[in-house]
Amino acid sequence: MTKTKRLLLSAAALSMIALSPLAASAQTADARADAAVKAMTQAEKLQMVFGYFSTNATWMTGGTKNFIFPKEGLPDSAGYVPGIARLGIPAQWETDAGVGVATQRSPTPRLRTALPSGLATSATWNPDTAFAGGAMIGNEARLSGFNVQLAGGMDLVREPRNGRNFEYSGEDPLLAGVITGNEIKGIQSNHIVSTMKHYAFNAQETNRFTIDVKVGDKAARESDLLAFQFAYEIGQPASVMCAYNRVNGAYSCENDWLLNQVLKTDWGFKGYVMSDWGATHSTVAAANAGLDQESGWAFDKSPYFADALKEAVNNGHVSQARLDDMAKRVVWALYATGAVDDPVKGDQSATIDWAGHAKVTQTDAEESLVLLKNNGLLPLAKAAKKIVVIGGHADFGVLSGGGSSQVYAEGWKRFDGEGPDGFPGPLTYYASSPLKGIQARTKASVVFNDGKDPKAAARLARGADMVIVFATQWTGESIDVPDLNLPDNQDALISAVAKANKKTVVVLETGGPVVMPWLANVGAVVEAWYPGTSGGEAIARVLTGEVNPSGRLPVTFPASLDQTPRPKLDGDPKLDDDAHPHTDYDIEGAAIGYKWFDKKSLKPLFPFGYGLSYSTFATSGLSATADGKGAKVSVSVKNTGKVAGSTVTQVYVSPAADAGWEAPKRLGAFAKTALNPGESKTLSLGVDPRLLATYDSASKTWTVKAGDYKVMTGNSATDITATTTIHLDQQTLDVRGK
Ligand code: BGC
Repeated sequence: MTKTKRLLLSAAALSMIALSPLAASAQTADARADAAVKAMTQAEKLQMVFGYFSTNATWMTGGTKNFIFPKEGLPDSAGYVPGIARLGIPAQWETDAGVGVATQRSPTPRLRTALPSGLATSATWNPDTAFAGGAMIGNEARLSGFNVQLAGGMDLVREPRNGRNFEYSGEDPLLAGVITGNEIKGIQSNHIVSTMKHYAFNAQETNRFTIDVKVGDKAARESDLLAFQFAYEIGQPASVMCAYNRVNGAYSCENDWLLNQVLKTDWGFKGYVMSDWGATHSTVAAANAGLDQESGWAFDKSPYFADALKEAVNNGHVSQARLDDMAKRVVWALYATGAVDDPVKGDQSATIDWAGHAKVTQTDAEESLVLLKNNGLLPLAKAAKKIVVIGGHADFGVLSGGGSSQVYAEGWKRFDGEGPDGFPGPLTYYASSPLKGIQARTKASVVFNDGKDPKAAARLARGADMVIVFATQWTGESIDVPDLNLPDNQDALISAVAKANKKTVVVLETGGPVVMPWLANVGAVVEAWYPGTSGGEAIARVLTGEVNPSGRLPVTFPASLDQTPRPKLDGDPKLDDDAHPHTDYDIEGAAIGYKWFDKKSLKPLFPFGYGLSYSTFATSGLSATADGKGAKVSVSVKNTGKVAGSTVTQVYVSPAADAGWEAPKRLGAFAKTALNPGESKTLSLGVDPRLLATYDSASKTWTVKAGDYKVMTGNSATDITATTTIHLDQQTLDVRGK
């Protein structure tokens, strides 16, 4: 048979597959991807692995050499990869990101629903809420014509100043992995691809394109990589986005250890690795290290995966088998998610269920709010006659985080002079006003002051029955915050107001942890994160008691930066891209967040897992048994208060003798349970054996040491309510924890 004939035959077979989805879906994604690649010409294979930036803005055409707007791409979006019509393979239309369908900077952004920040969703400690949010934003992506969502951000919070912490899921591998995994699963339930990103150790924005992170294999596997591993197992993301930074000397997107070894070999990832935009630095090194697709090539110094890759395959520097594998991984992802059989149909945004989606984001926000302090001020007293609301543009709406993940929503606004003119701006508020939400729920007179003049605000506050100060901290991609204080003199504003009236409630809208020099002088504090497009309603409902707060901190709030592994941030924003700054994550290794605080006996401002309720809960009957290679925990929870609410059961585990752990204890399991007053439930929770083990790099195994282990319940990482001890026999698990 001639080559052309073979090609025609296999193409015919493939188009039959493409034409009859029923027969096709009976075949595995693997078999279909193999057949597709066999039918592809070399040019088509190369086309699969080369991505375009899809924003035709003048700031881009003017600023980036060789920029070509792909005509079939969707305007103002992150990316586009052409399809192969004759083989039934759709184009890849890519959009950011984790809280909804984003738009790149544009005069005419698409208007969509935004979830609360990723960190907020993590604060719900509710995998079902995370799934529902993912399913909702994936639906809006599909109805906007996108079949690849650049979501699943989950670098662990090693640096509280990181400008992108709001996009991620906190500091704990289990919590972050479970929450992000469920978001990804929700997105992909729409038959579209989700990424998981930024792989890996992209924990600061300062010098993000160049910084070299030093981290040992063992510590890595027990921390950030474990988070990614959990999320991968739960969510099965069809794509992974490699990060900008270097790890142990090699760029993440040409890092054989991260891509070929850990992700593809050890975990068995079958999908494709796409680069972050501007994170591809070579042709041969990147392709051979495991990068499968160059994204938004206009951001790279050169179109590395275009002609240069063709030549590298011709001259044998990259094998034909490797190019076939790259193309196969991309199409496998499209078959496996259903993106081929259930293709997106362009812009159908007119059919979006706005009211339904508003409920989804509002529920997420309501569950994410963390009541940090309450000396009885909340919920707002029904008898209050005069309430003063101050600051945070609370008369208009709620803040969102900035950068490529920016979702624009109906009525969004940038206030004059606030935030940078360029990226990662615009500093955006959503039109969901906490003030209006409060006014609608109280008979009191509610007056607003913008908080710009602390003295005037304090004067107004004096004598009111209640004062609510809204304080904001805007964070965004590409910049870290200089410190953990609230910007723009807001600490002074809160102090002045609290001095004038003790009945002051502070509502924080922040990207991550902040310090609170005024804490002792205020009556209540609520952390509201960036609460999304229904955030104002959610805040009002929690303040007035329509909703009982149930969020718990997914991240430690340090008392000061001196307590953190790197009191001074490594790198310097002034360095150019030829510099080679370093940061050392072996300082804390796997002891991130509460683990570091535990190990060093440091007292944080607020610990991981902390959060109050308008009700009280009790746990009883804690027992634990060895179960397979891990453990099973049984515990009863009861609502002992007067109002319905949800509690988060946190199970921590700790070896009785030294077992070589990175820190005294780890979160082993958690569950969120809704309970009516007086109601109780008995929970059965499994502890993954990897959370009882240490990783051995030489043998690529996890070992649970024989010995006694404490199994504890806690209201937070520092408030243990009950302890039981179990004996575990020695267990050896493979690299996948089996
Ligand atoms: C960000 C990614 C994003 C990409 C495409 C990059 O700057 O780091 O998170 O997905 O842009 O917009």
